[in-house]
Amino acid sequence: MITLEDHKVLITGATSGIGKSIVQRITDLGGDVVLVGRNIQKLNSVIDELGIGNQAEIIFYDLSTPKSIKEELKHLSIEKKFTGFVNSAGIDITKPLKLLKPEDYNLLFNLNVVVPSEIIKELTHKSIFSSNGGSLVLIGSVMGSLGQKGKIAYTSAKAAVNGFVKSAALELSPKNIRVNGISPGIVETPLTEDLFSKLSIEAKQEIESMHPLGFGSTEDVSSLVVFLLSKHSKWITGTNHYIDGGYHIH
Ligand SMILES: NC(=O)c1ccc[n+]([C@@H]2O[C@H](COP(=O)([O-])OP(=O)(O)OC[C@H]3O[C@@H](n4cnc5c(N)ncnc54)[C@H](OP(=O)(O)O)[C@@H]3O)[C@@H](O)[C@H]2O)c1
Repeated sequence: MITLEDHKVLITGATSGIGKSIVQRITDLGGDVVLVGRNIQKLNSVIDELGIGNQAEIIFYDLSTPKSIKEELKHLSIEKKFTGFVNSAGIDITKPLKLLKPEDYNLLFNLNVVVPSEIIKELTHKSIFSSNGGSLVLIGSVMGSLGQKGKIAYTSAKAAVNGFVKSAALELSPKNIRVNGISPGIVETPLTEDLFSKLSIEAKQEIESMHPLGFGSTEDVSSLVVFLLSKHSKWITGTNHYIDGGYHIH
C-alpha cells in the first residue's frame, strides 16, 4: 500500500486534467502539495473542490517565461521539506511546418524543459529539499518518441524531456534524487477535448483505434506518478515510462 504521508510535492499544471488528478492522489495518500500556476482563482478552486486546504499551498508563476522561483519558495511553510516535483503544465500546438514560428518552440520548450529546469535548480537546494532525497517526475508524451504531421514543435519539446530526464538523473543521483519521465498516449482531458473538437468523429475513432487498450483516464497516469514519487520506486531513475494503452507499439 502506497503512502505519501511524509511527502511534500511541488506540482505545475495542477488546475486541470492530469495535474489535478495527481494533486488528488497525492493528498488522498496523505501528502502535502504546493500548486504552481498562472491563475490564482483556478488554483484556489481546486483546493476548495478537493477539500485539501490544510495540505496545500500556492505559488503564482506563469510558466511561459522562465524566471527564478527562489523568492516564492521562501514564503512557503518550512515545517516539512520537499520530497518531490511533478511538471504537468503543458499545451498542445498542432501546426504544419510552414506556419510554425520560433515563438511556438519557445513556449513549448519553456513549459516542458526550461522552466522545469529552473524550478528543479532552486527546489533541490538542501535548505528546502529532504536530505533523504526524493523523486522528480516530468510529464512528456508518447509523441516524444514518435512522429506525426503537424506536431514538429510538440514532438521536439517532448523528445527534449526524455533527454533532460536522463542527464538530470545522473547529476542528481548523488543527492539520492531520482528523475523520471512519463510518456502518456491520449488521455481524456480539456487539452484533448479541445483537439478533438476540431476533428470529425471518424478521425477521433481512427486515433482511438491506434490505442489497443483505448484512450486513458487521468487516474491511469496519476497512479504511475504516485508510484514514482513513492519509496516503492526507490531504484528507478533516468527512465521514461510509456503509459499509452499500447500506442507506442505501432
Ligand atoms: N491529455 C493527453 O492526452 C496528453 C497526452 C500526452 C501528454 N500530455 C501532457 O500532459 C501534460 C498535462 O496535459 P493535460 O492533458 O492535463 O492538459 P490540460 O488539462 O490542458 O492542463 C494543462 C495545465 O497546464 C497549465 N498551463 C498551461 N500553460 C501554462 C502557463 N503558461 N503557466 C502555468 N500553467 C500553465 C494549465 O493551467 P491553466 O488552468 O492556468 O490554463 C493547466 O493546469 C502536458 O504536458 C501534456 O503535453 C497529455
